[in-house]
Amino acid sequence: MDQYTIHGGTRLHGEVEISGAKNAAVAIIPAALLVQGVCRIENIPRISDTDTLLTILVELGARVSYINKSTIEIDCTGARYQDAPYDLMRKIRASYYLIGSMLGRFGNAKTTMPGGCNFGVRPIDQHIKGMRALGAQVDVKNGFVYAEALDGRLHGARIYLDKVSVGATMNIMIAAVLAQGRTIIENAAREPHIVDLANFLNSMGADVRGAGTDTIKINGVESLHGGTYSIIPDQIEAGTYMVAAAATGGEVLITNVIPKHLESISAKLRETGTFVEEYEEAVLVRGPEKLHRVNNLKTMPYPGFPTDMQPQFGVLLCLAEGTSVITEGIYDNRFKYVNELRKMGAEVQVDGRVCVIDGGHKLSGAPVHACDLRAGAAMVIAGMVAGGTTVIDDVHFIERGYERFVEKLNALGADITIDYDDGDTDRVSLSSVS
Ligand code: UD1
Repeated sequence: MDQYTIHGGTRLHGEVEISGAKNAAVAIIPAALLVQGVCRIENIPRISDTDTLLTILVELGARVSYINKSTIEIDCTGARYQDAPYDLMRKIRASYYLIGSMLGRFGNAKTTMPGGCNFGVRPIDQHIKGMRALGAQVDVKNGFVYAEALDGRLHGARIYLDKVSVGATMNIMIAAVLAQGRTIIENAAREPHIVDLANFLNSMGADVRGAGTDTIKINGVESLHGGTYSIIPDQIEAGTYMVAAAATGGEVLITNVIPKHLESISAKLRETGTFVEEYEEAVLVRGPEKLHRVNNLKTMPYPGFPTDMQPQFGVLLCLAEGTSVITEGIYDNRFKYVNELRKMGAEVQVDGRVCVIDGGHKLSGAPVHACDLRAGAAMVIAGMVAGGTTVIDDVHFIERGYERFVEKLNALGADITIDYDDGDTDRVSLSSVS
């Protein structure tokens, strides 16, 4: 099994550059299917989720090529409606964006029900509600989603989301861009990657307004043209390095970030006694000698504290003396990593969506799992602060979302080695992309 072996007790020092935002890239790549022309996309993160989506586009007839390590060109002019590689779709959550982009481009879509991290039930009913409102017939059968624009083309509609959903908001935006007439999404999510997707679409000729507020208005256009777009930096990757610096008592300058996107993370870190200084496109984080507990940390939709930073903070608060409480406001079952932390000596109780941490007990190295992407990153942080050796398995989850994670951490002074089953050193291979 693919593993990381971590020798703990190192403090992180130095500078690390953040890659492009995963959750923006995984929507923008499928959205490129709407464009008749060449999309040059900069600041693409080289992670397995983007690799998978690019491979799916290639299978649909797109031409994809890397210009340099973080810039790609996608030309979907010759794409055709056909069966896509369903085994790849099934692996990732973001394959749901192909429902919106295939419907918008071809008037037809067949995708698998999305995969991705398991945090309990993760329905896509709001995506389906949105597509139906736009005039598609949508059926879920045998693990597949079948969608068809009844008039051959979607029609604008007013859609109120019953839940604030990042995925449903972006999927409806993608589908509505080429629909006839005006679409209004109410109770929309406001995450930075929603604004980024809108900016990408607009730079290719779409008319999307209000992204970043809870009402998004999309005036359908006849076609999209090629162009160049640069993806925003990854808020969660940056936040993960911020917590890693704080937890190890190190000092790290984190560059290529938008500090405004990190405000909720910076605020909570400051409550723990961590020093955080913001610059124009960087943050400096210095861990304190002694971390303070925090009273209540609750995850919420943006601009609240992100659920994708919850496990990393769970580890941090295990190191702070006293009792801290975390409430998970988004998912039913996002505390599975706690079992792994217990193997390392953490004292944590979970009741439903609430986790009570009795902090200040020393962590010790142990064999543990990466339960999912962010839980895996949290275990890496735990391994770096623990005494002795920690071996983490199932690290493919981590590589879905962190570009060169081990290389970046080792450059900051961590001591981590990678063991892949097949002896590979680089998993993001882009076999079908030149
Ligand atoms: C996206 C992110 C994920 C992040 C999450 C919340 C991607 C690929 N993933 O996931 O990293 O943790 O946003 O910031 O961008 N819900 C429904 N019905 C739906 C859709 C969602 O009930 O149709 C519920 C979900 O179960 C969850 C909540 O709404 O409880 C928010 O989910 P959503 O914002 O949609 O998350 P994802 O798009 O799955």
